[in-house]
Amino acid sequence: MKIEDVMNICVVGAGNMGHQIAVCCALAGYKVICTDISQEMLNKAEGFAKSYLPERVVKGKLTQEQADNALANLRFTPSLEEAAGEADFVIEAAVEKMDIKRKLFADLDRIAPSHAILATNSSYIVSSQVADATKRPDKICNMHFFNPALVMKLVEVVQGPHTSTETAQITMDLSAKLGKIAVWLKKEIYGFLVNRILSALAQEALFLADMGIATPQEIDLAVTNALGHPMGPFRLMDLTGIDLSYYSAMERYQTSRDPKDKPSPLVVEKYTKGEWGKKTKKGYYTYE
Ligand code: 3HC
Repeated sequence: MKIEDVMNICVVGAGNMGHQIAVCCALAGYKVICTDISQEMLNKAEGFAKSYLPERVVKGKLTQEQADNALANLRFTPSLEEAAGEADFVIEAAVEKMDIKRKLFADLDRIAPSHAILATNSSYIVSSQVADATKRPDKICNMHFFNPALVMKLVEVVQGPHTSTETAQITMDLSAKLGKIAVWLKKEIYGFLVNRILSALAQEALFLADMGIATPQEIDLAVTNALGHPMGPFRLMDLTGIDLSYYSAMERYQTSRDPKDKPSPLVVEKYTKGEWGKKTKKGYYTYE
């Protein structure tokens, strides 16, 4: 397969990442079907596309024709069969739970055409952990976007030992078609590049907050004003989801059994209270 053969894209998951990845692909001219088990999430995602695209026209960032074409390219359905049945490329952006992802990849392998590439947008689950649930491991890889996916330029493409170079190359090419800057990781590693670097910063920030040295808000003020980051680590955790911070630390701890990999007390407290950040309207900050 070549990049020119990719025309239909299926995005699995209409959450934090999936809804924006779907709009990104539709803006690049692909026919996109976004699917989710939750009709409520699909309605939210469709509502977002229907308000975001006209807003971009008003802002002068898109022409009316570009916005209309993107909307016409985009469909939402709860049926995985309908979404993946004619896909040339699938981007899985479902919940970060291993058993769910393995089941999804087995289902996608059964439903999607045999030439289709199945990529996961997982933040930390390397694709070798799902590839063996399919009969096409050479067509499985990581394609990792950043939040908000419509804004952040980077995509990490991770080639596992099972991933063919053709699959990684097409994924790199697709990223470029979406207007992204892609980096090609030739080996799998937990957290890839960016989340490893980010988690070092977040771990230190959480340690300082857990020790009562400063509040999360003060630590964010320090990082934005001293280091020039657009947001501090706590506001960023609110954006990406404190539930995700919890799951990724648990996943890491379950693999390493190293107590220092356990989620920090503050993350456990926020996770348990259901204060997961922007998506629940409360995390380290409160949102309207
Ligand atoms: N969705 C879509 N577009 C958005 C957006 C959103 N949620 N938030 C902001 N934007 C767009 C605005 O429309 C605006 O676009 P324009 O300039 O073309 O008109 C642009 O972004 C700037 O927006 P604002 O002026 O409202 O706000 P800021 O200048 O504060 O930018 C931000 C917001 C882009 C989110 C910026 O704060 C930022 O870059 N933050 C850091 C984000 C980051 O580090 N992301 C990586 C997270 S790690 C990750 O994703 C890992 C993964 O595994 C989860």
